[in-house]
Amino acid sequence: MKRHIRLAVLLLFLLSSFLLPTPPTLSQRAPNVEQRVNALLAQMTLEEKLGQLQQLDGEGNGNFRPEHPDLVRKGLLGSTLGVRGAQRTNQLQRVAMTESRLKIPVLFGFDVIHGYRTIFPIPLAEASSFDPSLAERSAAVAAQEANNVGLRWTFAPMVDIARDPRWGRITEGAGEDPFLGAAFARARVRGFQGDNYGAPDKVLACAKHWVAYGDAEGGRDYDTTDLSENTLREIYFPPFKAAVDAGVGTLMSSFNAINGVPASANAFTLTKVLRQEWKFDGFVVSDYTSVRELINHGIAANEEDAAAAALNAGVDMEMVSRSYNMFGPKLLQQKRLSQATIDEAVRRILRIKFRLGLFDRPYTEEAREPNALLRPESIRLAREIAGRSMVLLKNDRETLPLNKNLSSIAVIGPLADERRAPLGWWAGDGKEENTVTPLAGIKAKVSAQTKVVYAKGCEIQGDSTAGFQEAVNLAKASDVAVVFVGESHEWAGEAASRSTLELPGRQMELVQAIQATGKPTIVVLVNGRPLSIGWIVNNVPSILESWMGGSESGNAIADILFGDVNPGAKLPVTYPRTVGQVPIYYNHMNTGRPPEAENRYTSKYIDSPWTPLFPFGYGLSYTTFKISNLQLSAPRIAANGKLTVSVEVENTGKRAGDEVVQLYIRDLVATMTRPVKELKGFQRVSLQPGEKRRVEFALSHEHLGFWNREMRYVVEPGEFRVMVGANSVDTIEAKFEVTN
Ligand code: GLC
Repeated sequence: MKRHIRLAVLLLFLLSSFLLPTPPTLSQRAPNVEQRVNALLAQMTLEEKLGQLQQLDGEGNGNFRPEHPDLVRKGLLGSTLGVRGAQRTNQLQRVAMTESRLKIPVLFGFDVIHGYRTIFPIPLAEASSFDPSLAERSAAVAAQEANNVGLRWTFAPMVDIARDPRWGRITEGAGEDPFLGAAFARARVRGFQGDNYGAPDKVLACAKHWVAYGDAEGGRDYDTTDLSENTLREIYFPPFKAAVDAGVGTLMSSFNAINGVPASANAFTLTKVLRQEWKFDGFVVSDYTSVRELINHGIAANEEDAAAAALNAGVDMEMVSRSYNMFGPKLLQQKRLSQATIDEAVRRILRIKFRLGLFDRPYTEEAREPNALLRPESIRLAREIAGRSMVLLKNDRETLPLNKNLSSIAVIGPLADERRAPLGWWAGDGKEENTVTPLAGIKAKVSAQTKVVYAKGCEIQGDSTAGFQEAVNLAKASDVAVVFVGESHEWAGEAASRSTLELPGRQMELVQAIQATGKPTIVVLVNGRPLSIGWIVNNVPSILESWMGGSESGNAIADILFGDVNPGAKLPVTYPRTVGQVPIYYNHMNTGRPPEAENRYTSKYIDSPWTPLFPFGYGLSYTTFKISNLQLSAPRIAANGKLTVSVEVENTGKRAGDEVVQLYIRDLVATMTRPVKELKGFQRVSLQPGEKRRVEFALSHEHLGFWNREMRYVVEPGEFRVMVGANSVDTIEAKFEVTN
């Protein structure tokens, strides 16, 4: 009898493995990718090959353009930007899969930067959390929503280091530090792609903008960058290297010229570094018409030259401009392009399409779309992340948190009940009606007895102060006034460079008028970059930097204002006092004459302190912490050795809270100047009142080295300083030695 049972069980198992398909692994999904790529390549005409190198944009509402189906039918369009919606993408995909000669699927891409329909805080805000796991989780939700509307590719994460808040795109990255930037780049790539970007709720990621786009002269978007290879390798490369090491499938070449060679025609960055040094085997897409813009840069006389320059340098897919398609055959015939170069670009794109599983599963299940967006758990996550990303800049006399039972609260300002700004510039397909504004969040938070009154006071931009009196009257009649000021979404993001960092319009005067009432005043900033808020810092007791906090920002702000969330975030960018200090960043060089107040002849300003308004890594809490007892595992290590650094962190206050313990090093003497401080570790820890914890960091070769004059990464022997603290200024320190 037992034998029959065993046989029956075996049969059942075999049957189930056919009936219940287990999700295939990456190699099962796309077996023998290289063979399949080469087999397909061998069948393609030149026009079909050039078609795979072409991406065109759809209409703003997500529709494809009338000419797209025919281009796809002829194999002349390999990818679209902005075409979205399961039904629409399936409709265009059906043309590719049933009417084209070789049935190569279309790759649908879109800017899903910090959310598709559920919009998370801007990346600069998420970086303020100093908790990359949050960015991984938000990217995973963004991928799940995007995949369900037919998208398989997002042009994210943006991993540009930004040291200049005049540059509007500082909003999109992780701030000024390469170590923090690398951590968030890894996390976002993992969130978008998972361990298999062909999985149903994942998308292909795109690390952008390759490279040094944030170093734009004058903070002017698209402007020239001119910097040493050392600075490229020390500051701007690390987040991209982290993304490549995390398996990112694509990169996007940037608009800017790098040391005289535009990034979209730069063989050093596109081929020597990316391909030869880093062994990247995905593909590079240009930025929007950045191939054709090589003519404006003056390194191409026409689109023919532009196509040759870009493709030969290593830009595989051309976004929107059509130089490759129009002039590829002629350039090949003139031997200004080789067949091998064209084939390699096509191979890289086909490789990614196979890895995406697009050939096997080209369509999106339309039935999934309606329930895929704004899921309750996604909205809860957006609120959680926003609350962990807002930075408490000042809180004198414990003005915050507010009491939920206070009798009246005046909610003032042009950003108190504004739905679009919290979504940031890159709002995916986010809808304003899904934004919880601060006014709504506060109303939902306070007790039924609390009277909540609201006055806009003035516009975000604009000269009128006609609304001031109403706002002042409401503040005077209330227990407390909360003023919401900052920037509109058009002032954060692409092509949003500013010549000053002042609050736009008459907002600063509105704050001054409310403060002048003598009522307890709190300022909440809604903005995408550090602003010049010196007067507010000197005169207003409490300031919360909420950034652009996404769909749930109003609830998160209310959670913090009324103490349901204790803020624990830190600044990922330096806050300058004035725009005149820019560029200003914490990991600067010491110079031969470091600033000394009493000595005129040192590096500083005669009309302003040389220090920032708030330093990198700064942020307060409703409780207090003590960091002490710095210990090193050894007084010296070999260049390839490991050192453990630990400190004790104690919550010395009366309420639970988070502290971000930051570890910095300084290489005191080296064959090149080294920064006075470099972030090489951070940990966000949650502690109950009175709780103590020892926090450990490991330092090794990868943390202690730099790129030397011979352009080699080296760890040189000598003395190092290690500094640990709750920001980049207030630290405790010790020294250790690296021996040969
Ligand atoms: C834009 C941006 C880039 C974006 C692309 C597609 O110009 O520079 O970040 O992904 O075009 O929208």
